[in-house]
Amino acid sequence: MGVENYMSKKILVTGGAGYIGSHTVLELLAHGYAVTIIDNLSNSSEKVVGVLEEISGRPITFVRGDLLDTAHLENVFRDGDFDAVIHFAGLKAVGESVAKPLNYYRNNVQGSANLIEAALRHNVYRLLFSSSATVYGHPKYLPIDEKHPIATTNPYGETKRVVENMLQAVAIAEPKFQYGALRYFNPIGAHHSGLIGEDPKGIPNNLVPYIAQVAVGQRAELSIWGNDYETVDGTGVRDYIHVADLSKAHLKGVKRLFDADGSFTVNLGTGNGYSVLEVVRAFEEASGKTVPFQFSGRRPGDVETCYADPSLAETLLGWRAEYGLDRMCQDHWRWQELNPSGCA
Ligand code: NAD
Ligand code: UFG
Repeated sequence: MGVENYMSKKILVTGGAGYIGSHTVLELLAHGYAVTIIDNLSNSSEKVVGVLEEISGRPITFVRGDLLDTAHLENVFRDGDFDAVIHFAGLKAVGESVAKPLNYYRNNVQGSANLIEAALRHNVYRLLFSSSATVYGHPKYLPIDEKHPIATTNPYGETKRVVENMLQAVAIAEPKFQYGALRYFNPIGAHHSGLIGEDPKGIPNNLVPYIAQVAVGQRAELSIWGNDYETVDGTGVRDYIHVADLSKAHLKGVKRLFDADGSFTVNLGTGNGYSVLEVVRAFEEASGKTVPFQFSGRRPGDVETCYADPSLAETLLGWRAEYGLDRMCQDHWRWQELNPSGCA
């Protein structure tokens, strides 16, 4: 399908005001799709929508709404005439999911069930889902391919596993239904404009947002959780991926749902692992700031090393990550420097 054929395609993006959703919305708009966002703003700001319209020069239909509100969801689908759904909306903090598991099952699992039911009721048969590398649990081998056993270690990861299984069951029951489950590794970075990026509320759980807040002077120092792992320098290793690369993968994923039959589950990573200390150094280089740190004990539940085999995404979607760690840190820093207190 050429770009002109996508002009009339309407995509419902759940959680489109959030970090990965907002970047993907820009990519969709740049390629001619019409976008409706539904977001309850529990972890984002409506201001983002205006910024997205400004950057893209295109209008967005924004609906403030919750996937748990089935009557509202019904109206959104009735008015929208969507061709596909990209489903980002969800809660994503591992620690919080351990403390408040029912919130996670309700929001992530019930919310997804409501969404799929509404989609089917309105003859929308294509859906991309934000899954996570967390479904693999502690790696049994590296790099992790999609055949790696699933072994979740916390309620958040479990909700991702359950929704993947739910999608698979629905596709069996309703053969017209096609889905793509995208297992993200560690998304970081920001749009090159510096106008949108990750805006965590409270103390960041994740490494790069924390480093960025130290570099900009909001926090005194980074705690590095564990320096006794069997890695290059003793600190944990992850597969960091630029959010811009991730957005492009969604574009390829949605195109595949339009152009080919069947469903798919793919890893989205770069295939490269970097240690915490390597990330700190790359961020210092990108920002020109010093990032003070101290070593602390291991974070409970952390894996030592985790990185993807991303080759299936290349085979199925024709996608591979382009940006390296330096560019991820440069773009993340531009966003942080321009928005020292986030966007809200
Ligand atoms: P985010 O919190 O920035 O975005 C999620 C958005 O969904 C937010 O804007 C929030 O307000 C909205 N939302 C949450 N529950 C909702 C509900 N019931 N109804 C309507 N809107 C709701 O998170 P993100 O980093 O952009 O993550 C997007 C998706 O990707 C999530 O499903 C997350 O689990 C998954 N994921 C994220 C990462 C990561 O490290 N960021 C890694 C793997 C998977
Ligand atoms: N780390 C620190 N200090 C911090 C934060 C993190 O040293 O303040 C370390 C961690 O111990 C780990 C590495 O930095 O070694 C990366 O940690 P993140 O929290 O950024 O990322 P994780 O890989 O641990 O977690 C991410 C997502 C989870 C998901 C998991 C598996 O945040 O939602 O990937 O895919 F479950």
